[in-house]
Parts: sequence; structure tokens; C-alpha cells
Amino acid sequence: MTPTSSASVFVRNTQAGDVDQIIDLCRRVYTTSMPWTEVQLHSHLSIFPQGQFVAIDSADNKVVGMASSLVVLWDDYEVNDNWRDFTDSGMFTNHDPEGHTLYGAEVMVDPTRQGKGIGKKIYAARRELTRSMGLLRIRAGARLRGYGKFKQQMSPEDYVLKVIRRDIGDPTLSFQLKQGFRVLGVVRDYLHHDEESMGHAALIEWVNHQLAARKDTYGRDPKFGKPRKKEDI
Ligand SMILES: CC(C)(COP(=O)(O)OP(=O)(O)OC[C@H]1O[C@@H](n2cnc3c(N)ncnc32)[C@H](O)[C@@H]1OP(=O)(O)O)[C@@H](O)C(=O)NCCC(=O)NCCS
Repeated sequence: MTPTSSASVFVRNTQAGDVDQIIDLCRRVYTTSMPWTEVQLHSHLSIFPQGQFVAIDSADNKVVGMASSLVVLWDDYEVNDNWRDFTDSGMFTNHDPEGHTLYGAEVMVDPTRQGKGIGKKIYAARRELTRSMGLLRIRAGARLRGYGKFKQQMSPEDYVLKVIRRDIGDPTLSFQLKQGFRVLGVVRDYLHHDEESMGHAALIEWVNHQLAARKDTYGRDPKFGKPRKKEDI
């Protein structure tokens, strides 16, 4: 096993003792701005501990990835709502146990360990949580990290279509599509201070086909591709 392999990495629920390492991880992943504060991370743990995950390398017990989620009642939101609305300014105090949607607020992997399957393991844990809680879906805003380079050439919608067709690879959306998500739409002011995406994100969805009925996937914009089949991950 090479030192950068993910074979020794496992995913478990986050504990309060992981927070310092998560803060360090945030600094390594987001070099120009800090996505989460210690107060917010502790708030997530006290409100919805099952939805918080870390990827740990068992070789040295170091945190090499994390994901944070909450449950929302989708009818309380508009599709164009932004990250602040969906996370109550990062505190998750809008977590609603009556909801049917797991909202993925964050996923990140140590930059020195990306591309080795750790993000995939984290998403497997998220899907397992969704199934075990009897939720219908996961939704998230995939910030369009590669869009800034194409902003003079095309709209964010055209950029997303090219990523879906694999004409362009996007560091976040290409990964999410491989995890079984499909695009529902493009949100123009999702994370307005994010320079890479110019604030834009794709609203994405993974459907729990064990539970979802036809009505739960009806009316998706066909522009973004066919709805996923039951046998997809
Ligand atoms: C997005 C992120 C979590 C992916 O984690 P990762 O551990 O690098 O991803 P994995 O190695 O598990 O990749 C899983 C699959 O996605 C694909 N993938 C990952 N990054 C990709 C990219 N930039 N372009 C195309 N495909 C990509 C892999 O090839 C792999 O495909 P496979 O299943 O066919 O082998 C990680 O790159 C990251 O932390 N990015 C910075 C933070 C971020 O932007 N988070 C999203 C916030 S919205």
C-alpha cells in the first residue's frame, strides 16, 4: 500500500475531538477563505451528529476528509436560495427532523489525498445515512469551481451542460456526477464570495430509489439529462 492510497481510510461520524483537525483541513483545502468556524462545527455536532462525517487514515489517525449535512423540509425553500439560507448561515439551526431531504453542506478531502477514492467513500456513507433514515434524496449546491476560467466564453448554464457532456471537467461537479447526482438547475448567487465559481453553483440531486415514487422525480428539466435509473448508485 502506498502512503497516498485510500485503502487505510475509513469513514465514521465526527466527534468533538476532531474539530481542531477539521479546522486545519479547511485551511489546507480553502487557502483564501475559511469555510467553517469552530462554533459552527460544534453546532452541527450538537444539532445533527449523525450527519457529520470524517474520513480517518487508520495509519496515523489523521483526518483526511470531512462532510457535513443537515435535513431540510424542501418546501420551506426556493430553488434559487443560497448557501446561507440552506444552512442558516452555517449553523444548521434550520435542521428539520420532519424533512425528507439530506442537504449536503460540505465535502472536502485533503489536497494531498484527492483523486484516490476518499470522496467516494464519504459519499457512500452519506447515501447509507440517507437510506437508513428513510430520506428521499440528497440535494446540494455544487459550486462550479472551474467556471471562472470560462466566464467570458459562456453562461454558467452552458458550462454545466458541457460538464454533463464531459466536454469540460469541473473539479466539483464532475466528481458529484460520478456519485450518481444529476443537475436540477443553476443557482447564480449561491456563494457570492467564491471567486473560482463567480458565486455560481449547480443544484444537484441524488434520489433514494428504494423509497422515491414517480412523483418525487417528476418535472426535472430534461435539458440537464435523463433522470437516473433505479439501478444507478
Ligand atoms: C470534490 C472532492 C471532495 C472529491 O474528493 P476526491 O477524494 O478527490 O474524489 P475521489 O478520488 O473519491 O473521486 C471519485 C470519482 O470522481 C472522479 N473525480 C474526482 N475529482 C474529479 C475531477 N476534478 N474531475 C473529474 N473527475 C473527478 C474520480 O475520477 C473518481 O471517478 P471513478 O469513480 O470513476 O474512479 C475533492 O476534490 C475536494 O475536496 N475538493 C475541494 C473542496 C470542494 O470543492 N468541495 C466541494 C464543495 S461544493
